[in-house]
Amino acid sequence: MGVDRRTVMLSAAAALAPLGAARAREDDTLAAAAARCGLGFGTAVGARGFASADYRALVERECAVITPENAMKWPALSPGPDRFTFEDADRYAAWAAKAGKALRGHTLLWPRQDRLPEWVKAYDFGPKPVEACDRLVGRHVATVAQRYAKRVGSFDVVNEAIDPATGAMRDSVLSQASGGLGRLIALSFQLAREAAPKAQLVYNDYMDWGTGSEKHRLGVLRLLESLRKGAIPVDALGVQAHVTAPADRGAAQRRERDWRAFLDEVTQMGYKLVVTEFDVDDREIVGDVAERDQQVADYGKRWAEIALSYPQLTTFVTWGLSDRFSWLDSFRPRADGQHKRGCLYDDDFQPKPLRAALIEAFSAAPARARPST
Ligand code: XIL
Repeated sequence: MGVDRRTVMLSAAAALAPLGAARAREDDTLAAAAARCGLGFGTAVGARGFASADYRALVERECAVITPENAMKWPALSPGPDRFTFEDADRYAAWAAKAGKALRGHTLLWPRQDRLPEWVKAYDFGPKPVEACDRLVGRHVATVAQRYAKRVGSFDVVNEAIDPATGAMRDSVLSQASGGLGRLIALSFQLAREAAPKAQLVYNDYMDWGTGSEKHRLGVLRLLESLRKGAIPVDALGVQAHVTAPADRGAAQRRERDWRAFLDEVTQMGYKLVVTEFDVDDREIVGDVAERDQQVADYGKRWAEIALSYPQLTTFVTWGLSDRFSWLDSFRPRADGQHKRGCLYDDDFQPKPLRAALIEAFSAAPARARPST
């Protein structure tokens, strides 16, 4: 009796797998490979992706976690003071519930001037601006957290509060009215905990391991420290992970030490880690598509392996699954004008080397406690 080719290939792969590690399987989905090491895998979904039945099917097959890419942001939810439009966000929540997926709430407070609703930028905070600002932010945070408390397992409560250029907190109409962002950040986490006591509460930011991110990392560490000291209910650091594959292939190795030192400090303070927005910008990579895809996969895998070496990392979310709907082209276009290829699937929803690389990384990762999300 002959042994079929697939069995031979599978047992050859199994023989090569490192001892003790879960093994990558030929028919693996990302969610299944991630779940074997106790990790929840998912993606953000934006309006264009959500409108495509094929894309929704891909997300349902490959993911255990869904993050609405824009639908839960303040400008999307609230067209004016005390006015809310939940229809769009509700559609994502209903989809996730029907498909049996965990939902991440992104984001309750994004205190960046350019990300605030227009009406907030023009808001009259009156003679008692501190109280007025507490009321404005507090009402938004509490209303949204309450509405989705039963559906959202993990909230990005505060997003990008640190100015990467200085490491200080960002300046905006909110910080000006409130005399700094500190009290609004604390208030947001406290209100989110009250409204959604079971949800994981995350501070989310894009500090990374690249040169030029030192001040950003330090600023985030200082913020996390002060939140701990004030006993503010923050469970995890969200690492956005919009990483850029460098033309210089030795860069990952050189950056690893600083990055581990940062993650060590965060986890030693007792924070969990969530990768919230992973993609691999290839704007610096030249060459044909196959070369670019391979470099994106190699760099993304190395980055993921380091993150996965922390058992405190329990969720891994990408910022889109397919290049077709990725935000990367609009973010910083390539100099040669070509379409970027920073996701796990191409424009036609065909898997790329980065997908296989992540499955390998998940399959070789140490086990961790199952995620709550
Ligand atoms: C981006 C979305 O992908 C875009 O569609 C939108 O135009 C702008 O926001 N950090 C974050 C995300 O926390 O919310 C951002 O999402 C990407 C950077």
